Amino acid sequence: MGKNEYLCPCLKITKKDIKEAIAGGADSFKKVKKKTGVSLKCGHCECRVKKYAKKQLKKQSEKKA
Ligand code: FES
Repeated sequence: MGKNEYLCPCLKITKKDIKEAIAGGADSFKKVKKKTGVSLKCGHCECRVKKYAKKQLKKQSEKKA
């Protein structure tokens, strides 16, 4: 897996991990954070992860509609 796959290099959290957290019931960035622990180390990834999680959550809600 390429380095760019990590949304959070500190904790080695990938897009897949975020997607899985969302699939597992996390319906907000806060819950994604709680589930994965993302951005709890240095916090530099928060913006990036938030953006990605929001995009995925939007996609999911569009799927449901
Ligand atoms: S990059 Fe995510 S906590 Fe440091």
